[in-house]
Amino acid sequence: MDFTAALLFFVLLISSSEALYPCGSRPDNSDLSVVPIYGKCSPFNSPKPESWVNTIIDMASKDPARVKYLSSLVAQKTTKVPIASGQQVLSIGNYVVKVKLGTPGQTMFMVLDTSNDVAWVPCSGCTGCSATTFSPNASSTYGSLDCSLPQCTQVRGLSCPAGGAAACSFNQSYGGDSSFSANLVQDSLTLANDVVPKFAFGCINTISGKSVPPQGLLGLGRGPMSLLSQSGALYSGVFSYCLPSFKSYYFSGSLKLGPVGQPKNIKTTPLLKNPHRPSLYYVNLTGVSVGRVRVPIAPEYLAFNPNIGAGTIIDSGTVVTRFFQPVYEAIRDEFVKQVKGPFATIGVFETCFDASAEVEAPIITLHFEGLSMKLPMENSYLHTSAGSLACLAIAPVPNNVNGAMNIIANLQQQNHRILFDVANSRLGIAREACN
Ligand SMILES: *[C@@H]1O[C@H](CO)[C@@H](O)[C@H](O)[C@H]1NC(C)=O
Ligand SMILES: *[C@@H]1O[C@H](CO)[C@@H](O)[C@H](O)[C@H]1NC(C)=O
Ligand SMILES: *[C@@H]1O[C@H](CO)[C@@H](O)[C@H](O)[C@H]1NC(C)=O
Repeated sequence: MDFTAALLFFVLLISSSEALYPCGSRPDNSDLSVVPIYGKCSPFNSPKPESWVNTIIDMASKDPARVKYLSSLVAQKTTKVPIASGQQVLSIGNYVVKVKLGTPGQTMFMVLDTSNDVAWVPCSGCTGCSATTFSPNASSTYGSLDCSLPQCTQVRGLSCPAGGAAACSFNQSYGGDSSFSANLVQDSLTLANDVVPKFAFGCINTISGKSVPPQGLLGLGRGPMSLLSQSGALYSGVFSYCLPSFKSYYFSGSLKLGPVGQPKNIKTTPLLKNPHRPSLYYVNLTGVSVGRVRVPIAPEYLAFNPNIGAGTIIDSGTVVTRFFQPVYEAIRDEFVKQVKGPFATIGVFETCFDASAEVEAPIITLHFEGLSMKLPMENSYLHTSAGSLACLAIAPVPNNVNGAMNIIANLQQQNHRILFDVANSRLGIAREACN
């Protein structure tokens, strides 16, 4: 059985509860709704429930490409910018946020991506885009940006034509099999009740391939073109989100921007800045426990190394948490000691066991500097659709990735408030049901 076919037998067994505000905005309008892209509240064509789960699993099968992409995000030297090489953007669109672009605002559902800096949306007249596009002509605040501007360098725009001004255009590859070309433009971005004037984003003219998120992507990374940087004092470098589970049917999670309304007594761990991969949110993972056993892991496999980019990142776009091979093996070996076999391998998951033993399956705890995150069972185990097997939902980083990199992914983050306090260089994690 090949990998994809094997994964088709999976379902995620995650309990869902009734949401207070199905699909709508919360009454105070202070939160932005966050919905899984294929969930019931998503505006996109939702696959039928049985195939919907397979879609989620299919997304996880694309993680290796994203992991490779994340590890390739190396700082650009500003003096020598590659000309339109096209960044390998292999992120996977699991969650979208509702925003408005232009004046009057046009509603767009953009993918939330903490490891990307630039935002982009498909624009009217675009070749290969789906029906919902942004219409620059219908906005009174729209403006184009010139190829000579520093922002154009930041999106690795094409160089200006000899002896002339031109719009800033850039090409980008996406998802391994797709690419797009866009112009860098600016317009008002409305997030709940806030307006970010002159927000710079890519206006897509041409898409080839099928992986580009249909209504664009909102980059929440750390770089100069990201929403945090462009909104400056408005959000003071602070945001948080709660991602609902994939399986939730009626619900909305939320993205909270700015320091107001953030949890006050949340436990935090330092956010580390890695000049080697400046867009990414690094944290100090110091260990992993399986049940009560602290897994023996050589410290160098977890160490943060800004020179080579090694360390642990937290990412909204990877589905299943990935560990550097020796770290993964140590966790797997401890797990196998504690859980009664026999074990089956399905795809990348080597520790599938009889689901009837799940009640005794150990709790997985991620230890960060200053904070431990005890993973709920539904954030730890995947089930086969027949329900007979449960698998520990972690995987090794693929071999083609350079350097020791661990990625805390969205399945493990679900139903937690994750606070990115960039201003104070800290990341907060607290349990919060947002199904
Ligand atoms: C937008 O307006 C310009 C000038 O009025 C026009 O040339 C262009 O075709 C319009 N584009 C679209 C997509 O409607
Ligand atoms: C950018 O993409 C456009 C449209 O797909 C293509 O015509 C153009 O050659 C590309 N430019 C570069 C430098 O790759
Ligand atoms: C990570 O945490 C450990 C344990 O507190 C500490 O010794 C180490 O210096 C930290 N690493 C970084 C890069 O802050």
